[in-house]
Order: sequence, then structure tokens, then C-alpha cells
Amino acid sequence: MRTKTLVTGPKGFVGARVMDALKCAVPAPSLRNVDEDGVKRLVDEVQPDLIIHTAAVSDIGACAKDPEGSYRANVLLPLWLARTGVKAVLFSSDQVYGGCKGEGPYTEDEAAPENLYAREKLEMEQRTLDANPASVLLRAAWMYDMPIYGVKNRGNFLMNMLRSPSLSFSSTEMRSVTYVREVAGLIAKAAELPGGVYNYGSENELSMLETAKWLANELNLSITLSDAGPRRNLWMDTAKLKRNGISFLSTVDELRLCISDYALKDR
Ligand SMILES: NC(=O)c1ccc[n+]([C@@H]2O[C@H](COP(=O)([O-])OP(=O)(O)OC[C@H]3O[C@@H](n4cnc5c(N)ncnc54)[C@H](OP(=O)(O)O)[C@@H]3O)[C@@H](O)[C@H]2O)c1
Repeated sequence: MRTKTLVTGPKGFVGARVMDALKCAVPAPSLRNVDEDGVKRLVDEVQPDLIIHTAAVSDIGACAKDPEGSYRANVLLPLWLARTGVKAVLFSSDQVYGGCKGEGPYTEDEAAPENLYAREKLEMEQRTLDANPASVLLRAAWMYDMPIYGVKNRGNFLMNMLRSPSLSFSSTEMRSVTYVREVAGLIAKAAELPGGVYNYGSENELSMLETAKWLANELNLSITLSDAGPRRNLWMDTAKLKRNGISFLSTVDELRLCISDYALKDR
């Protein structure tokens, strides 16, 4: 039997790549002004076997400016979807590790959110799992890609590196930056995971400054990189994901893949 998949946020940064990867998925309409009854009506109408939920207020600053609106989008909307009883894969974030004090990498039970967005994501994880224990919560890393036709582009590591004459990254900040095409490519496998929370992104043994220097060197970029920025650490341990049969490439190998996909060395 083919899985009928409903994708929320199908024109968003992640959702558009998920739609590309799954080919026959059903795009949800905008859920900005929809209440719980509206969510139920949509699910009754589409009758999906699976929901991939990417719609959210994903900008940390926008959440801080509109706490009520972002709570509705980032906590209540996913909760309403989980309450329909359909299995859902929902996006959380590595930001939940922002207040962790240890060196990392962090396992799924070590979250310590520091900002409103991260607190909403953590509450969303807990409440969707309570409502439907089959829910799969993916703590995604900072994702990048080149722009695609018809989809609003957002600032990301790769585009920032290609466009900026100078940037600062910290030599003490450990985190993954992940190629969104790999995130989308693995989503069908992620849907088969047992319900729970998973760190979901590439493995990075390099600091953010080292990662940026690697990319600048690989693409021969004229960019000045300086060592500054947060001392925070969002380093994810992906052992749980691997035990369950899903492995990401390393951050450097994903960057190599993206460089090859877009022939960036020929640009
Ligand atoms: N991008 C990253 O690097 C990153 C990193 C970690 C985690 N995440 C998480 O991954 C998921 C996808 O992120 P993304 O970058 O693809 O997000 P995005 O492009 O910023 O937004 C996805 C979609 O959400 C919908 N949306 C925006 N505001 C909404 C609201 N108030 N209520 C309901 N829907 C709203 C929009 O669709 P419509 O215009 O059709 O309403 C938008 O296209 C999110 O949960 C995000 O928090 C992203």
C-alpha cells in the first residue's frame, strides 16, 4: 500500500524540499488562520496515512516579537495535528540545547532551552508525544541550500558564505549545519522511526569557524572570516538515530555533496 502523505508548509524552506523528495505527497493549504476544527476538517478530507509537519514560525526573533502567535503556530498547531491520531513527523530544533552547560555532543534527554522559540519547541515535543505516542520529533540543525524557483529564500550558512565579504564564526561553537536535501531525502525513513525525539542532522567534529574556513577554502571564496560570536554549543549526538537505522553524512561530506549537486566549483 502506498503511503498518502500530507505535508504542511509545502512552500517553506524545508517543506518545498520534502515535496520534491516525496513526489506524490499532498500539499496542505496555509494553516496560519486555522483552528483545531479546521485541522480536523483538513485531515478528514485528505485522509492521510502520514503527516510531515514543517509549518512553523521558524525565526527566533519573530517568536520573541509575537509570543502569542508563535505559541499558536509552534505548540498548538502541531498538537492539533497529533490529536487527529494520524502518525506525524514534526520538526523541532537543535536550539533546545542552547542552555546546556556540558561540552556536548548532547543526547536527546539533555535539552535546556534558552529562548522562547526553543521553549516552544520543547513543549511541542512533549505535548505531541503525550497526544500521540507514535509522533516522531526531529531536532533539526541549521539547514542550507541554494535558492529554488518559486520558494522564498532564507538566509542560511551556504548563502551567507557565498554572498558576504566578511563573516564571524566562533571557534568554540560546535553545531551541525545540514544540507536540507539530505534532511528531505531521509524523511521517508524517519517516518518509520518509533515514536520519540531524535537528533536529526549531520555530524560535525569541526567548530563553526573551522567549518566556514573549510568551505571558503574548498570554493576559493574571497571572504574574511574572523573568530567571534557565541560561545554556545548546539552539538547533537546522533547515536539514537543511528541505532534506529538512519545515518547522515558528516557536515563536510554534505557540503561536498551540495557543491557537486549545484556544480558550485564551476560558478
Ligand atoms: N530552517 C532551518 O534551518 C531550521 C532549523 C531547525 C529547525 N527548523 C524547523 O524546521 C521546520 C521547517 O522550517 P522552515 O525553515 O522550512 O520554515 P519556514 O520556511 O520559515 O516556514 C515554513 C512554513 O510555515 C508556514 N507558516 C509561517 N508562519 C506560520 C504561522 N504563524 N502559522 C502557521 N504556519 C505558518 C508558512 O507556510 P504558509 O505561508 O503556507 O502559511 C511557511 O512556508 C520548522 O519547524 C522549523 O522550526 C528549521
